Amino acid sequence: MAQKKLSGEVFLPSKAVVEKANVKDWDEMSKRAQEDYEGFWAAEAEKLHWFKKWDKVLDESNKPFYKWFTGATTNISYNCLDVHLSTWRRNKLALFWEGENGDFQSYSYYLLHKQVCKFANILKSMGVVKGDRVTIYMGRVPELVFAMLACARLGAIHSVVFGGFSVEALHERLEDSKSKVLIVSDGSYVRGKIVNLKKIADEALMRAATVEHVVVVRRTGHEINMEAGRDYWYHELSSLPMGNQGCEAEVLDAETPLFLLYTSGTTGKPKAILHTHGGYMVGTYTSLKYVFDIHEEDRFWCAADPGWITGHSYIVYGPLLTGVTSFMYEGAPTHPYPNRWWQLIEKYGINILYTAPTAIRGLMKYGDAWPQRHDLSSLRLLGTVGEPINPEAWKWYHRVIGRGECPIMDTWWQTETGMFMITPMPCVPLKPGSGTRPFPGLIMDIVNEDGESVKPNEEGFLIIKRPWPSMMRTIYNDPDRYVNQYWSRYPGYYLTGDSARRDEDGYYWIIGRVDDVIKVSGYRLGTAEIESALVSHTSVAEAAAIGLPHDVKGNAIHCFVILKEGVEGTAQLAEELRQHVGHEVGPIARPEQIEFVSSLPKTRSGKIMRRVLKAKALGIDPGNLSTLEE
Ligand code: WT7
Repeated sequence: MAQKKLSGEVFLPSKAVVEKANVKDWDEMSKRAQEDYEGFWAAEAEKLHWFKKWDKVLDESNKPFYKWFTGATTNISYNCLDVHLSTWRRNKLALFWEGENGDFQSYSYYLLHKQVCKFANILKSMGVVKGDRVTIYMGRVPELVFAMLACARLGAIHSVVFGGFSVEALHERLEDSKSKVLIVSDGSYVRGKIVNLKKIADEALMRAATVEHVVVVRRTGHEINMEAGRDYWYHELSSLPMGNQGCEAEVLDAETPLFLLYTSGTTGKPKAILHTHGGYMVGTYTSLKYVFDIHEEDRFWCAADPGWITGHSYIVYGPLLTGVTSFMYEGAPTHPYPNRWWQLIEKYGINILYTAPTAIRGLMKYGDAWPQRHDLSSLRLLGTVGEPINPEAWKWYHRVIGRGECPIMDTWWQTETGMFMITPMPCVPLKPGSGTRPFPGLIMDIVNEDGESVKPNEEGFLIIKRPWPSMMRTIYNDPDRYVNQYWSRYPGYYLTGDSARRDEDGYYWIIGRVDDVIKVSGYRLGTAEIESALVSHTSVAEAAAIGLPHDVKGNAIHCFVILKEGVEGTAQLAEELRQHVGHEVGPIARPEQIEFVSSLPKTRSGKIMRRVLKAKALGIDPGNLSTLEE
């Protein structure tokens, strides 16, 4: 491949990496995908199993409600499991897992299929049928994977709620999805302590009228409340004979909803992003295979939580679709010591590690000695996702973890996109901090207020100019919001909510969110959720939340609070409010700092100007203040 000279600091792939890579010529692949976009995706789809093939690859008859592979029938659970059973992969490790306390579990494709069928039969016995919603609220344990695939098998819609969320967040998601069944674990281990998930679920269930049954997975074994007629132990149900009957995967239209995943947006309550079987399957399969260059013998570790899209696409669905071995670890990277991950890589011979900048920065803080004590030579590729990675952390990851030999796949994407959108592949020259270019076939742009492409190196709004298979289909229960939020600012184009710039080589550099979303340790939180948690406290009249730069977390939450008449702003109250937000939303949303103020900057229409608060906190120019009320 003829390479033109690239500007800035560039890391070229080693010969060994390129020789092994599935894709050796990115330009050729990209050209092919651009010239025949639908043909490109159809060719990938052909590699998966369809009970019936599609009539049309992309159906644009009802924009922006695009459909993919219309007329086809399939089932993603069948493609993750059953297709492998007639091949040698039947005996290959599909999933292996280590607990924070050192417990170990492993599942061949054969055994995973068995477990999933069992779980599906349990759900069936509770009356779950195609289209029903099932909420899953657990720590990182294999049963979570069984539960997801069991829902998919039946055509039920799973809604995984991150185990780090609390009562309010869980309650809201149960209500909005009108879930029939909740699957929960008794507790989860977090840094040696037990988080009592069942107790949180009990509180949330008090006001969630639609849930008929609760399946409880035993993980921590501590005493919990079991409500007769509602709550059932998973291990008891799965030992009943019905579990062993097998369970055929439902034959589903390609556009059948697969899951809901709640994520934070600009306003109000979290929105339920909806993904479907066919397109999501093709997108996750294709993107993982090429970007992380999946080979049969690989042990792939996506260290995210299955409660987020990263875990859905790249712990569960993508890896199983490609037939690779996926590793899952229950605990935190630094517990009990900062070498926990390096130990695991050495112990299990992990080949590909995919994590987030916040984890990398957090580990970097402990110095080089911890990783250097371990043999990390099995690693071939590294990955990062969730927020922009600062070049310093990139280089540390590259040099210390990757021995200077493992390319880093900096993958930009979103809950909404389902798959990697801006990403390198191993053969692509890298620039630390840039995700390089859009995945082959995708057309993206950076535009100004008027929708015109900006010049190289100018900042603008990141948009996507044509549909892709694993795109969200709608916001569950709120199609208008789907149209307004994503497709109205620049009609016909998808608005990502991020700002970015593109350099003279066409490399994309993500700057950050331009809406009221704060990325804390890569987690996506809406200012509205934090603010509404604060005002639900009896002492608070009004509140505003902003994100300020933080060394490890990327951003940390700072809150400005107006107290009710006669309430005194003590340090003790500030601490109480921090804990209150943690209880309502979840520990990840706990503010770093609470500042008591007597007024907040607002527009004349009463909207809080967070930009002004942020500028003031950072001591920079707040910019245009013409809309400020006072
Ligand atoms: C937002 C989406 C998709 C997996 C995890 C996050 C930010 C994501 C990158 C990256 C810079 C990134 C964006 C995006 N983001 N990946 N590689 N470089 N920023 O999913 O919670 O839906 O958040 O995360 O701001 O819009 P999510």
